[in-house]
Amino acid sequence: MNSMNKRLKIFIVDKDEMSVSIIENYLSELNYDFTLVKSGSLSEAKEQVDENELNLFITDVSDNVEQIGTEIDNIEDLYNNCKFILTAYNFKTDDIVRFLRKSKKDFITKPIIKTGFLAIVNEIAEKMTSEQDFSGQGKVISVFSNKGGLGKTTVAVNLGYELARRDRRSKVVVVDMNLFLGDVTTFLDLTPPCDMSFLIEKIDETKDIVDLTTQYEDSNYYVIADSPYRDYSRNVSREDVIKMLNALRKRFNYIIIDNSSAITGKTKYILDFSDLILLITEANLPTLNNCKRCLDFFEHIGIQNKTQIVLNRYSKEDECHKQDVADILQKEIFGVIPNDWQTSIASINRGITIGETNPFSDIYYAFGELADLVARKLCR
Ligand SMILES: Nc1ncnc2c1ncn2[C@@H]1O[C@H](COP(=O)(O)OP(=O)(O)OP(=O)(O)O)[C@@H](O)[C@H]1O
Ligand SMILES: [Mg+2]
Repeated sequence: MNSMNKRLKIFIVDKDEMSVSIIENYLSELNYDFTLVKSGSLSEAKEQVDENELNLFITDVSDNVEQIGTEIDNIEDLYNNCKFILTAYNFKTDDIVRFLRKSKKDFITKPIIKTGFLAIVNEIAEKMTSEQDFSGQGKVISVFSNKGGLGKTTVAVNLGYELARRDRRSKVVVVDMNLFLGDVTTFLDLTPPCDMSFLIEKIDETKDIVDLTTQYEDSNYYVIADSPYRDYSRNVSREDVIKMLNALRKRFNYIIIDNSSAITGKTKYILDFSDLILLITEANLPTLNNCKRCLDFFEHIGIQNKTQIVLNRYSKEDECHKQDVADILQKEIFGVIPNDWQTSIASINRGITIGETNPFSDIYYAFGELADLVARKLCR
């Protein structure tokens, strides 16, 4: 099992039932998906440590600091994916020093206060999940169309948001490859401190590439902005981009690329590098002819098999139906996004995603379905 699938498993080790139910209650407000195990003793809990999960112990140490301390040290030695929060009505400085000897542990004095407790648990959970190195397992999804204005940025931004929202433990980044002419930051109303040129320049000297990206709101969704420098954009090399994507693959579950419409050398190697290509089209003849030609070209360069069609701005009233589109393209339709000008444009104007603009709209629902399809396709 690779680390990408690791879940958070939280153990409450406490004999006092009142404390357990308070902690349990607080944890129900946690931002992470987790499984909960209640246990009277640490050794009992230890039996259930799962190496494929991130194990967080919230352990009462009031009883016998000496013995529990040794047990905790043992668990830490055996498994490298365990973290500990120690609780007690009273902590003696000596004990804290002893516990800290091996590694950083967190201490919470009882009675536990909700806000402080959740802040600590959230921070640990965030750190544990973000420390996971995917060893290059992150998936690259290219959004492409060989005609402008068909909805590439709309699909890239909203699909990315939805993939991130569906699994808060994952990290998703959208990369604006419309060098110098990108829209992603406008769509999400971001003023990024770093753009792609800065990221590429600093990639070797930075410990964590996530620090060179821009976070959207307070979420697990990140952006790499296009460079505002025209000269830079012209000169960015293939090696630079591939190096960046490889580095992103280690830290993000999904890397979504908003490509430009031109099939240049640059676009070709990015498409080549991608695990999945979403080719955006619309149900009208000129666009479909164009799309068909693009598919033929993809066949020629050997990337047709990983290409999936997303039919955007679709309306059942259209003269050309979904099946007609599939017939013309001689390829099944992977995803359909309905036509909803009002929501789309409102979301751009407000600088937020479609889901935040109107969570009850059909278009938002369609992005949810697309995210599911993409996730399923890529985990096979
Ligand atoms: N499903 C949809 N329903 C209605 N309008 C849409 C839909 N998808 C996109 N649009 C609108 O179409 C316009 C173009 O969309 P977008 O900017 O995403 O296309 P693009 O392919 O990225 O364009 P470019 O080639 O310029 O980068 C935008 O105004 C957007 O709001
Ligand atoms: Mg665009």
